[in-house]
Amino acid sequence: MRDKNIILIGFMGTGKTVTGRVLAERTGMKLIDMDSLIETEQKKTIPEIFAQDGEPAFRQMERELVRKLSKRSGLIISTGGGIVLNPDNVADFEKSGLVVCLTASPETIFKRVEKDTSRPLLSGDKKTQIYTLLEKRKPLYEAISHRINTDGLTDKQTANRILELYALESRD
Ligand code: S3P
Repeated sequence: MRDKNIILIGFMGTGKTVTGRVLAERTGMKLIDMDSLIETEQKKTIPEIFAQDGEPAFRQMERELVRKLSKRSGLIISTGGGIVLNPDNVADFEKSGLVVCLTASPETIFKRVEKDTSRPLLSGDKKTQIYTLLEKRKPLYEAISHRINTDGLTDKQTANRILELYALESRD
C-alpha cells in the first residue's frame, strides 16, 4: 500500500508543498520537496541558481533529481511547477507512482503568491506573468490524468482526495 510514490505536480501556488506536508503527516511517508532538495544540494536559493547558472541549468538539476527519485519508493514528492516542461520527467514519475496535478484559477494563484519573492519567474508584474505562463503550460498540466482543482479546498481536503485516489490505485 505504501510503496508507490505520490507525486504532486502543478503550477506555482497550487498548493503542492503544503499538501505534500499534510500527506506526509497522514501517511508517515517521507516527504521530498524537490526545490528545497536542489537548494540544499547546490547550497544556493532558487533565485540564486536562476541568476547565476540560468534556467536551463536549473532544468537539468530537476531532470537529474527526477531520474533519482523515480527509482525510489514510498515517497511523497512535491515538484517545482516547471517539471512538466520536460515530458521525460512526467513519464518517469508516471512509472514510479501516482501522479496528481493540482490546479487553481489564476486569481487564486495570484492571491497565494502575491507577497512571495522566491520565484524568479514571477519577479515582475505577477498577474501578467501568471496568466501568460499558465496559458502556455496549460496543455502540459491538462495532459496529466489525475487533476484536482484546489480552489476553495483546504489542504486537508486536497490531501484526502489524493489519499482516496491512492487507495483506489493501490487496489489494482
Ligand atoms: C518554477 C516553479 C518553482 C521553482 C522555480 C520554477 C516554475 O516551484 O521550481 O521557481 O517554472 O514553475 P513552485 O511550483 O514550488 O513554486
